[in-house]
Amino acid sequence: MNEKIRQTVSYLESNGIKDPEIGIVLGTGLGKMVNLISIDQEINYEVIPNFEKSTVEFHSGKLISGTLGGKKVLAMQGRLHYYEGYSMQQITFPIRVMKAMGIKFLLLSNAAGAINPDYRKGSLMLVSDHINLLPENPLRGKNDESQGPRFPDMSCPYSQDLNKRLLVIAAKENIVLHSGVYASVQGPNLETRAEYRLLKVVGADAVGMSTVPEVIVANHIGLPCSAISVITDECDPEHLKPVDINDIIAVAGEAEKDLVRIYTKLIETL
Ligand code: HPA
Repeated sequence: MNEKIRQTVSYLESNGIKDPEIGIVLGTGLGKMVNLISIDQEINYEVIPNFEKSTVEFHSGKLISGTLGGKKVLAMQGRLHYYEGYSMQQITFPIRVMKAMGIKFLLLSNAAGAINPDYRKGSLMLVSDHINLLPENPLRGKNDESQGPRFPDMSCPYSQDLNKRLLVIAAKENIVLHSGVYASVQGPNLETRAEYRLLKVVGADAVGMSTVPEVIVANHIGLPCSAISVITDECDPEHLKPVDINDIIAVAGEAEKDLVRIYTKLIETL
């Protein structure tokens, strides 16, 4: 794995991407944040050695390097999902590459359904903890000790320092930022009513199909991270309406400006 990481890093460096400080992963419908980045380089995943390309048409699949909030950032516009058929190692490879490039913090985002009945669509949830319901784990297989330990601690998978700052920023900006537990499922289908009931019983506040693999790898490699879910639908099993992916994308696009404001302000303080 180290050899592949070196290959990818050397390709990116030879394309002028040097010393990024912060990595950003933009989830479904959340790509517009890149409009605020003053862009130096923009590279499609398919031309980056060892990167897989996004197979979902509305996930754009570009690595963007530039400046945001006075810091050098490396942003993934569109991520890879397990449901696309990639292995967990493939979907988390970019996180290892960003760390090897030098990022000190990882800021993730995703679109998620609300299990907590107090959450309204269009609001934001800071992920305080997660429940991994994906059928696979990116750390399965022989451990590479140079990357991290065999049994990474997960007692505090999200940076308390970053999360505290994000809550303070949201309050100052008058943006509702819930704190809650994110459950990751495989997808690509949405959940049945019975599954939404189950997720509530096990303690999830929101559900989505991503983020947790990247967070597991970030913890493996000792990279402090935060994640914010944009609540795109309300999963009340007793009043469930059919969920349309186009609605999810539209709601994410609307709420994105709050997410962008919070993350940009955070980046200014790092
Ligand atoms: N379930 C799973 N993933 C999602 C949802 C949902 O309700 N909304 C957005 N992503």
